[in-house]
Amino acid sequence: MKILVISGPNLQLLGVRKPEIYGTVTLQDIENDLQISAASLGMNISFFQSNHEGEIVDRIAAARGEQIDGIIINPAAYTHTSVAIRDALEAVAIPAVEVHLSNIHGREEFRRKSLTAAMCIGQISGFGPDGYRLALQALAYRLNRRNQNNI
Ligand code: DQA
Repeated sequence: MKILVISGPNLQLLGVRKPEIYGTVTLQDIENDLQISAASLGMNISFFQSNHEGEIVDRIAAARGEQIDGIIINPAAYTHTSVAIRDALEAVAIPAVEVHLSNIHGREEFRRKSLTAAMCIGQISGFGPDGYRLALQALAYRLNRRNQNNI
């Protein structure tokens, strides 16, 4: 099973960016941890971070040709604005889980709306870096069940 983890704008600054909200763990730490979790689940995992909306759209589109089975995406600020990323997720129809480190529903009003979540299986928000591990497990459950049912 091939999983792609996509991180949106400013997530490369995790660790130094507003630690009172996002904590002190870096994106590299999160990716290292996911690499270990994926290996224990027998999954192949790759990572992509970009601050540019079009690059994220291109990466999602390319995932289809690469036979990516599942996507974990934190679209960061684009969560709240990007019809293009939403449409890309819809177009490729690869099972995706949306992750947010912070609880977007408990912050400013503009963060409470996600344009992208509706094109995902579900959203995990507010569990910090643990959210990524939970997302990987959720995808593993979903993909295993899909393979067993042959759908
Ligand atoms: C975020 C929440 C977004 O509102 C914000 O723009 C981010 C990070 C999170 O992981 O909590 O950049 O996606």
